[in-house]
Amino acid sequence: MKILFATSEIAPWVKTGGLGDVAGALPAALRALGHDVRVLVPAYPALLQAFPDAPEIARPHWLGGLLPTPGLRQAVAPDGTPLLLLDYRHYFDRPGNPYLGPEGRDWLDNHLRFGLLSRVAAWLGSEASSLDWVPDVVHCNDWQTGLAPAYLAYRAERPAKSLFTLHNLAFQGLFDHASLFELGLPDAAWSMHGVEFYGHLSFLKAGLQHASAISTVSPSYAREIQTDAEGMGMAGLLRHRADDLTGILNGIDTRDWDPTRDRHLAKHYGPRRIEDKAINKAKLQEEVGLEVRADLPLFAVVSRLTEQKGLDLFLDVAAKTIDLPAQIVVLGSGAHALEHGWNSFAQRHPGRCAVRIGFDEGFAHRIEAGADIFVMPSRFEPCGLNQLYSLRYGTPPVVRATGGLADTVIDAADEKHGNGFVFGPATATALYAALQRAAAAWRDPDIWRRLQKHGMARDSSWAEAAGHYAALYKRLAG
Ligand code: ADP
Ligand code: GLC
Repeated sequence: MKILFATSEIAPWVKTGGLGDVAGALPAALRALGHDVRVLVPAYPALLQAFPDAPEIARPHWLGGLLPTPGLRQAVAPDGTPLLLLDYRHYFDRPGNPYLGPEGRDWLDNHLRFGLLSRVAAWLGSEASSLDWVPDVVHCNDWQTGLAPAYLAYRAERPAKSLFTLHNLAFQGLFDHASLFELGLPDAAWSMHGVEFYGHLSFLKAGLQHASAISTVSPSYAREIQTDAEGMGMAGLLRHRADDLTGILNGIDTRDWDPTRDRHLAKHYGPRRIEDKAINKAKLQEEVGLEVRADLPLFAVVSRLTEQKGLDLFLDVAAKTIDLPAQIVVLGSGAHALEHGWNSFAQRHPGRCAVRIGFDEGFAHRIEAGADIFVMPSRFEPCGLNQLYSLRYGTPPVVRATGGLADTVIDAADEKHGNGFVFGPATATALYAALQRAAAAWRDPDIWRRLQKHGMARDSSWAEAAGHYAALYKRLAG
């Protein structure tokens, strides 16, 4: 099968969250099954730097509306995956985050930037393409590529099939009516059955409406988003498309996230040398200025600081948690109120709570290795990758029973399989009860080893998911 994987971020070069991780690992797993997968991604500064000599192989033109003529450059990732770099400097050669300007606000021309990405994905999947490589399926991811299925529907001759994968329903890519014309979409697209969503143009809805099939990143999330309570306005449409909607649980990059050879760690360890995890704990405590104490459980967070992640609930009971007694380390960035709240809490509890605001890949690895217990009280979680990293690093997670967290973490009450702690209501009280249970279990070496062993034995590699995606592609192209 020939697959074009279209994405707005890709690890290790450009990553703001889990989508970057998925785009950095799933294509290679599909290639290992024998499929010809190529990745289309904007040529951000980090990619231009990594592949300075990537030759231009096409110039898609007459894309419609106000869309410019970009270049397409070809490169090969170290794992062998071919990359198609969408090169239009005026849109993508910008500092910082793919989505936000320096002041933390969305770039004003995001509709054109990701409209161009979507449009070129559709161009590659149609007769207009000047390449001799034509994909069977265009695999789109999140709102940033959500218009590709619409362009395939409205603007393409002999269109490829499309798969739209939802990584997060909360980001809907909403723009005003005028962008319809700027993006070169026909008036006919402005309808309840097209790209219109409560008076806005929604990239996300366009994808859900027009893709040949839809997937999301866990079976539980696939069910949850069909309910009005969790469907974020799209539940009706998702129910309407229920026959075309599947949940495929994410994997993780098991080479990057492997405590037996992780290049970021002070000391490697694994299921058989689990004692050496303690060395990483002491190093981590030292690094962030916590009291170096083996006798306190260390709770950890690595996360985007947004409403979704429920870290306001954790902040509400952080003082009580420290009194268990315990320590807390937090790495994250996002909403100002949460950054400020956590920072000032840490200032009031030196030695017991350390907070770093920012994005730091190596530090994220050292936290997974050095902490005892990982905390993810998400209000919703399409899949979640950090709980999978935590399981693999012998750092049992405390999670709310939602989405992919519910599909991967088994409560300690199940002695045969338990690998973490699961709680129900999205309240600080319910979270605190789970944190208490975790701290108590940590004090019992037998129980704790058992939880760690179960978690570390979980196979979270991409192989299984890749098989499901391949079967889905086949059905679509069939
Ligand atoms: P989401 O995609 O919703 O942010 P996931 O759990 O799927 O949540 O993936 C988040 C990814 O981003 C993980 O690889 C995590 O380690 C990483 N990450 C999040 N925040 C930070 C940060 N501040 N520094 C480093 N890595 C981070
Ligand atoms: C999203 C979700 C997260 C998921 C990731 C990768 O950002 O919030 O739960 O793991 O995408 O699919």
